[in-house]
Amino acid sequence: MLNEISSAARTLREGHLVAMPTETVYGLAADATNPSAVARIYAVKGRPADHPLIVHFSDPKLINSWAAEVPDYATDLAKAFWPGPMTLVLSRTDLAGDFITGGQDTVAVRVPRHPVALKLLSEFEQLGGLGVAAPSANRFGKVSPTNSSAVRAELGDYLDAEDMILEGGDSEVGIESTIIDCTSESPKLLRLGAITAEMITQATGLSVSRAPSTIRVSGSLASHYAPNAKVVLDQAVLPGEGLIALESEPTPDSVIRLIAPVDVQGYAQQLYFALRQADALGLRRVVAITPKGDGLAEAIRDRLQRASY
Ligand code: TXA
Ligand code: MG
Repeated sequence: MLNEISSAARTLREGHLVAMPTETVYGLAADATNPSAVARIYAVKGRPADHPLIVHFSDPKLINSWAAEVPDYATDLAKAFWPGPMTLVLSRTDLAGDFITGGQDTVAVRVPRHPVALKLLSEFEQLGGLGVAAPSANRFGKVSPTNSSAVRAELGDYLDAEDMILEGGDSEVGIESTIIDCTSESPKLLRLGAITAEMITQATGLSVSRAPSTIRVSGSLASHYAPNAKVVLDQAVLPGEGLIALESEPTPDSVIRLIAPVDVQGYAQQLYFALRQADALGLRRVVAITPKGDGLAEAIRDRLQRASY
């Protein structure tokens, strides 16, 4: 495995793609300073070229290579939650080219905490790398992969012989990172995730706004994270249909129980697996019983709403 990670770091430096496990979802990584490598991410994902990418690194000091201004509260957030499932949007340096930012004057950065990702990124940095761009490793608009076989199913046909897929088990968080816009006086939530508004306020002493941002976030398109099966929320489930719900919810006769997590953490972790499983089983309709409460439960409801369009 260590040899494989070293060879993946070289693969990235040589301009090829590496699918890497992270604690949120698997990412499709390319050297963020190499325009042609990054162009291949867009081609492999089938993603429109004006959708900006998150730059990942292991050494938090590299934030200064990518961000021109880091407000104190962003430093507080980085100290509190990196490595971890949080992405910060900051004003960019010249290093963050238009091919990363979609032409915007901001850049998104994250230090993931999955041990394989951290090792890959630090080896990449030892080879002189400054960061890797990595969107979720799915075709555009589809469900993010949370294990390596889902990556292979999504992108296997589009990768080259030199590209690599790293093994890292099931992603621990299961939904994409929280994205926080740090370009104004106080933090703004752009995408909900495991780092909650309450946690952000605790770390910064600031209140968090959720005003719809004018910044483009592809994860904020209404229809996203969608399987082929029709997903409906909080409705009666009929025989032959799939059911996604907490364990406390019983399974009616002849209903296909996709997951039965014991808590919201488990719900988030297994959600995308369940949506993929629905398609693997050829289900036409899936009922999801949404979890109650704020924080991570709210992030789960957000993803389910997008999956249900
Ligand atoms: O958990 C994650 O964040 C995963 C793992 C692989 O790190 N990555 C991920 O990347 O979800 P992606 O490309 O699927 O979603 C990144 C989101 C997009 O919605 C994009 O629009 C937004 O981040 N984003 C990137 N740069 C931005 C910027 N400068 N301003 C606002 N949003 C930005
Ligand atoms: Mg994505």
